[in-house]
Amino acid sequence: MEAEVGVRRRLQDAGQEQLLRFWPELSPVEREALVGELLLMEPRELRDHCRRALEAYNQESSSPQRLDQRMRPVPPEFLGRVSRSDPGELGRWEQEGLHQISQNKVAVLLLAGGQGTRLGVTYPKGMYNVGLPSKKTLYQIQAERILRVQKLADERYSTKCTVPWYIMTSEFTLSPTQKFFEDHDYFGLDRSNVIMFEQGMLPAVGFDGKAILERKDKVAMAPDGNGGLYRALSDNQILEDMEGRGISYVQVYCVDNILVKMADPVFVGFCVSRGADCGAKVVEKAYPAEPVGVVCQVDGIYQVVEYSEISPETAEKRNPDGSLTYNAGNICNHFFSLDFLKNVATTLEPCLGYHVAIKKVPYVDEEGNLVKPVRPNGIKMEKFVFDVFQFAKNFVAFEVLREEEFSPLKNADTADKDTPTTARRSLLWQHYRWARKAGTRFLDDNGCRVPENDSISESDDPPAVCEISPLVSYFGEGLEIYLKNKDISTPFILDENTKECEA
Ligand code: UTP
Repeated sequence: MEAEVGVRRRLQDAGQEQLLRFWPELSPVEREALVGELLLMEPRELRDHCRRALEAYNQESSSPQRLDQRMRPVPPEFLGRVSRSDPGELGRWEQEGLHQISQNKVAVLLLAGGQGTRLGVTYPKGMYNVGLPSKKTLYQIQAERILRVQKLADERYSTKCTVPWYIMTSEFTLSPTQKFFEDHDYFGLDRSNVIMFEQGMLPAVGFDGKAILERKDKVAMAPDGNGGLYRALSDNQILEDMEGRGISYVQVYCVDNILVKMADPVFVGFCVSRGADCGAKVVEKAYPAEPVGVVCQVDGIYQVVEYSEISPETAEKRNPDGSLTYNAGNICNHFFSLDFLKNVATTLEPCLGYHVAIKKVPYVDEEGNLVKPVRPNGIKMEKFVFDVFQFAKNFVAFEVLREEEFSPLKNADTADKDTPTTARRSLLWQHYRWARKAGTRFLDDNGCRVPENDSISESDDPPAVCEISPLVSYFGEGLEIYLKNKDISTPFILDENTKECEA
């Protein structure tokens, strides 16, 4: 009774009493759960949150603000480009990156708190198997790339190094992710170097400015966006953990890019040699209207500008060499110095604005029935990981080749892009190219040579199916001893076991 009165008063202060409307029907256990949840919300914060959500929604519904006149592309001196760099330069960056890795100075941080609603599976996206011959999941591929890059650094510098893997999860993804890693024995990684932590959650708000109930005894909550990272870093003492391990640099990335280079030595080496505190890996935009954010300056400050924030004319603007002026497509793969992260997490985080996402949020109606809306009905407020670019003192961008480094899994196979099929194809094409470069000849089911037809589009399957385990090669290196001048029957998996036979 006392708890009810206290909570009711808090909700009155926040203007959110509707959250108790099923109170008389709740069992003691349900009441306790609801009170527990509501006591975690400060009345003033809850009131401000709901008001901000409604304001942001109203603003979003009006026409978007165009930034064309205030934008400038990343100046060339702050942009590295794989396609314009000679092998010597790339080699020096790689050397620097491997050196930092060998000295235990580099960590990777996975953003894995998203709900993956577009893909539409009930489990975390990292557990998804896109249908590779090996049936490996995204998590396994990433784990094996860590093992391999550690080995490359160790071989180069005669060390025994560790790249710690920090994984930011949310209420939705923490326990299944933990269980999955346990069940798979951490994919061969030392479990003390895989550090999972949870990001915060915020109530989803209806178009009337009221927080939504998803059950009679539960508020609809959503993760606070991948920019919730900075608050989660301090709430969970992650920066202290990094400091204790002697980490200086952190590569932060999204769960869904099947081609992600973990602790990428070239990217890390580029950023370190430029003395950067903050860096963004980018790819060239595929076409002017591609709906990706562009890394650029607005009023002289770095940020990511969404396609909706620029006019088609600006998106189509070209340089004298024909390339797009606003070409630096953001792929959610960032470099941060630990000092920069500390400054953001301890001081600057509250300055990060919220972005509004309009989503379908299941709710209970006035009669207490669960409704799965067919149209968006709720506002979710999210911070974005890249909004910290504005705080950088020395920002750099690094453009990599899309076909080698970026193929995200966003949608189910019913969509035409960023699906399990496109992700699987990107990886198999890459491995086909690596194997061909290493001097392999592929044979089909009948033992006949597969013609080396370079005119096949990468939107089709590659001519031969060949998957190379990250435990054997991180980025196409060292394959000649297994593949040069070999006739290989397909489908073919080069892994730790086949390697023994082929060498
Ligand atoms: P997306 O924007 O693609 O969102 O996340 P999502 O939740 O995975 O998928 P949809 O939009 O519901 O279909 C980009 C990256 O940011 C992470 C995701 O896990 C993904 O790696 N993320 C997103 C978080 O870590 N926390 C969040 O609150 C949101």
